[in-house]
Amino acid sequence: MNKYLSQLTSWVDERFPLTSNIKAHLTEYYAPKNFNFWYFFGSLALLVLVLQIVTGVFLTMHYKPDADMAFASVEYIMRDVPWGWLIRYMHSTGASMFFVVVYLHMFRGLLYGSYRNPRELIWLFGMGIFLALMGEAFFGYLLPWGQMSYWGAQVITSLFGTVPFIGPDIAEWLRGDYLTSDATLNRFFAFHVIALPLVLLGLVAAHIIALHEVGSNNPDGVEIKKHKDKATGIPLDGIPFHPYYTVKDIVGVVVFLMVFSVIVFFAPEFGGYFLEANNFVPANPLQTPAHIAPTWYFTPYYSILRAVPPIGISQFPGVVAMGLSVVAFAFLPWLDRSPVKSIRYKGNLYKGWLAAFVVSFFVLGYLGTVPANIWGTFDKSVRFFGGLDYAALVARIFTVVYFLFFILMPWYTKKDKTKPVPERVTG
Ligand code: HEM
Repeated sequence: MNKYLSQLTSWVDERFPLTSNIKAHLTEYYAPKNFNFWYFFGSLALLVLVLQIVTGVFLTMHYKPDADMAFASVEYIMRDVPWGWLIRYMHSTGASMFFVVVYLHMFRGLLYGSYRNPRELIWLFGMGIFLALMGEAFFGYLLPWGQMSYWGAQVITSLFGTVPFIGPDIAEWLRGDYLTSDATLNRFFAFHVIALPLVLLGLVAAHIIALHEVGSNNPDGVEIKKHKDKATGIPLDGIPFHPYYTVKDIVGVVVFLMVFSVIVFFAPEFGGYFLEANNFVPANPLQTPAHIAPTWYFTPYYSILRAVPPIGISQFPGVVAMGLSVVAFAFLPWLDRSPVKSIRYKGNLYKGWLAAFVVSFFVLGYLGTVPANIWGTFDKSVRFFGGLDYAALVARIFTVVYFLFFILMPWYTKKDKTKPVPERVTG
């Protein structure tokens, strides 16, 4: 190393553990040698987090959190601020891509049992991240103050109004007003630009510290720390994170940025899924849009909300079901009783239930984007189902499948015919 550089490094090292941290977390951090496609998404989630923070800072320089000015300030960013359109489209596309990446990242956990002992805390910090990310997306969506922003916030805050006895007070307290207003916009802005980003950053740090404490799982679901070189103590199936996985992750980043750029430059609205047409209309508290739907990443849970029938006029059961459908993931480490971690060695029962879960997630996701009643309704004379719309019936069936995946997991993972797990990773 250049003499001056090494002098500078030792000067820093005497005052800050730089070299020792680079060694502990990069050059001498040993990760399993058999990472595959599914291991791209953690580093991509980090990339998107940074992208959102950087573009968000620039948007904040020109955005006005004021009910009379918010919509126009976004139009000003799009038309007059130099490169403002690019920053805004990167941020709006980044929001959706964040969920794409995080869903794939979580799905990897389901494939390889990454949530299992000893990685429960990595998973729980991940769940915290997931909830914070949902909050972040929800608060951010109000800021452009379009029709969908306004009515989306109105619908979601009203959900809290369904809690027995104290609900209406909670809803009013959340909004800071009797209905969504300037006060709501101001507090959502504060949550979106500072409170939740801080929480997210803290949780991501905890997530990675926990990961480096126990080490990564891998597609075989075997612990590489069990077989170490006797002389060096290095796991026999481990390779240094740097340079091997830094290089692999750069490939992922390049491919991701290509996809990201195509969307930003050629399809930023993404057929109404990333930016809805109704949100190009300024918020009007006196005119409810005919069809209110959340952005695509919330629609599976929204479908569950709509699918659960009310008790009398109370929508509370649907709200509880929706909450449970999100929180259910947190229990996976204790629901999965299989003797093996990876899907490679699990049997057909787990594979079948996982497939059913994925199908129900997509079907519910789709149904959440369309208005109720799209397929028509059962004739009034039909027993049990009279008057019910077909889409609601399909949503109910898949809501049941969605929950059975979790509820029956202790049973079917125990009963499943698993294959023998190899001692070492197979490549
Ligand atoms: C901002 C969002 C997130 C970031 C930046 C992030 C970052 C990372 C990184 C860099 C890794 C190591 C690389 C990899 O295994 O892909 C990782 C692993 C992991 N993450 Fe996340 N993560 C995020 C969200 C989540 C969520 C929402 C969950 C689940 C609820 C989760 C669960 C896990 C698990 C279980 C591992 C270990 C996987 C294994 O070793 O097989 N993460 N995360």
